[in-house]
Amino acid sequence: MQLSGKTALVTGGTDGIGAQLIRQLRAKGVRVITQGRSAGRVAATLADGFEVIEADLSSSAGVDTVLAAMAGQPIDILVNNAGAGGGPHDFRADAAFDLAQDDRSIFLNLNAPIHLIAGLMAGLKNRPEAMVVNVTSGLAIALAASHPVYCATKAGLRSYTQSLRAQLKDTSVHVLEVLPPVVDTSMTAGRSGSKLPAPECARQIIAAMESGRNEANVGMTRLLQVIHSISPAAARGVMIRF
Ligand SMILES: NC(=O)c1ccc[n+]([C@@H]2O[C@H](COP(=O)([O-])OP(=O)(O)OC[C@H]3O[C@@H](n4cnc5c(N)ncnc54)[C@H](OP(=O)(O)O)[C@@H]3O)[C@@H](O)[C@H]2O)c1
Repeated sequence: MQLSGKTALVTGGTDGIGAQLIRQLRAKGVRVITQGRSAGRVAATLADGFEVIEADLSSSAGVDTVLAAMAGQPIDILVNNAGAGGGPHDFRADAAFDLAQDDRSIFLNLNAPIHLIAGLMAGLKNRPEAMVVNVTSGLAIALAASHPVYCATKAGLRSYTQSLRAQLKDTSVHVLEVLPPVVDTSMTAGRSGSKLPAPECARQIIAAMESGRNEANVGMTRLLQVIHSISPAAARGVMIRF
């Protein structure tokens, strides 16, 4: 896709990967509308010259806020990036789970992208060249034992994305799935080990958008995909320990 001159809605652009993505898209000549949740980060992003919608996407009310703000504004690109890891959900530990928080994570990571796609698809189909970008995770290919709810949401969004691509193959709407590895953001602040810098993750996402690929296997996810293509069991064996 030729990005210059396009209009994009990028959810979760007030921090992390999304914050890098909106800046790099703007540098490519894209008009970016973004969304954030915390008032402070929304204000900082507004001060940086972006159009920002404040909404909590962990329930349908937040999705409705975004769709109302987007009414009458044609977009060429929808990037479903907002997401969260959710709380602990581990039957090996004694701690109780917060199932209400799990439900909010499921809505944010899976339901909200589906609702936004449904709400914006008619407009996207009217554009000469359009794109839906869904940010899943390397964990959508091979799950980690420690975060079953998060992994389920990302595997669910991967599945939805693949069906959506098949449905839209004869239309002007391209469907890209982005599978990041561990990226250095607020989401992974408590984790040690190697992390991909968020600007590099955003650079690889934009390269995939420009090249028209179906999947952006970012950083180490590319290696995971290679292992998975040879032996799904081996790929699962690598990740299940986490
Ligand atoms: N970081 C990783 O290692 C990694 C790996 C694989 C996939 N991913 C995926 O990449 C995407 C971005 O992750 P990130 O690491 O950049 O996360 P992040 O730094 O925590 O940023 C998340 C963004 O989403 C917004 N957000 C969070 N909860 C929200 C809610 N309930 N309603 C509306 N907006 C909400 C945040 O807004 P506020 O700051 O205002 O709350 C922020 O703009 C997510 O979908 C994540 O699952 C990340």
